[in-house]
Amino acid sequence: MSQVIGVVTGGGDCPGLNAVIRSVAKAAIRRGWQAVGIIGGYEGLLAPQRTVALEGDLLSGLLVRGGTILGTANQGKFSAKVGHGESRRLPVELLDETKRGCEQLRLSGLVSIGGDGSLAIAQQLCEHGIPIVGVPKTIDNDLAATLMTFGFDSAVACATDAVDRLHSTAESHRRVMVLEVMGRYAGWIAIYAGLAGGADVILIPEIPFSYDSICAKVREREQASKHFTIVVAAEGARAAGADYVTSTNQPQNREARLGGIGAQVTEEIQRRTGKETRSVVLGHLQRGGSPTNMDRALCTIFGAKAVELIAQQRYGEMVAFTGSQISSVPISEAVGKLRTVPLDGGFVTAARSLGICLGD
Ligand code: F6P
Repeated sequence: MSQVIGVVTGGGDCPGLNAVIRSVAKAAIRRGWQAVGIIGGYEGLLAPQRTVALEGDLLSGLLVRGGTILGTANQGKFSAKVGHGESRRLPVELLDETKRGCEQLRLSGLVSIGGDGSLAIAQQLCEHGIPIVGVPKTIDNDLAATLMTFGFDSAVACATDAVDRLHSTAESHRRVMVLEVMGRYAGWIAIYAGLAGGADVILIPEIPFSYDSICAKVREREQASKHFTIVVAAEGARAAGADYVTSTNQPQNREARLGGIGAQVTEEIQRRTGKETRSVVLGHLQRGGSPTNMDRALCTIFGAKAVELIAQQRYGEMVAFTGSQISSVPISEAVGKLRTVPLDGGFVTAARSLGICLGD
């Protein structure tokens, strides 16, 4: 009898999910296996199981299509992340029920495509005897053990485009423009997009900032007859000694929703320098739309590698990009360890060499 492998997407969506689904399905079919998609995240594994056969026309056009055709969830029974760096053990009854679901579907392997939360669940499912492998997904790029997650490059492309657009309007109006980007507690999107877009100030969670330093940069530019300034602020950036800024509507039993630092920085710059200042929150635009070429290629390689791991019965491993090759690591090495922007790394060093203000 031919093998059946399942594919499940969990956590927040991001560009490239469908490209991974396509790659897994195609690589499985080439081996003579069947591939089924689990609908709505891990909950689709529970009775009555919700699945779709990944074959035929359904796979057409997926490489470039944003979102996930399977749906996803970052809340509900399988929400493992509760706070910054904390995760929750799933109840044994839920683990049993999930295992029964996989058996009823005759799954000989399950590919879990997710970020820190979904992969922490994958790890628990694996310890409970479910043959699972992981594919690292998140626009935040904050997973340990891989140099890049898919979705990140697409988010950076979106943020860089926003910085480019803000340049022309900032220059025309002689304004300060503040762009708030996502990334949770890591500043990867902010530093990549800030450097790629030529921002003057980049604020990342890894470097607590002072308003004096930001405003000094605005004034320095004024004196140099540069009458506009572009600030990129990660949503997790915070003033030295202050807490993270969170949106007013906080979810229960889930990670805090960050947001609002851009508006605070905007108000403070205007108050202190007298320069007209505006803010833009890029928000979920960073998670929507078609993946970049880089992400399409990465997703395709990741998906094929995940199928190879299942063929070799290397359960409990996650596909990883090490810079020179695509390899795999135990899922346990990737989860629960936030990968942040190194303060002595190339990005921070280059920013400082160019005189970009990092807020310190
Ligand atoms: O982890 C991905 C991410 O987009 C973060 O950058 C952001 O803080 C969060 O998810 C937003 O989550 P939600 O979709 O629940 O608003």
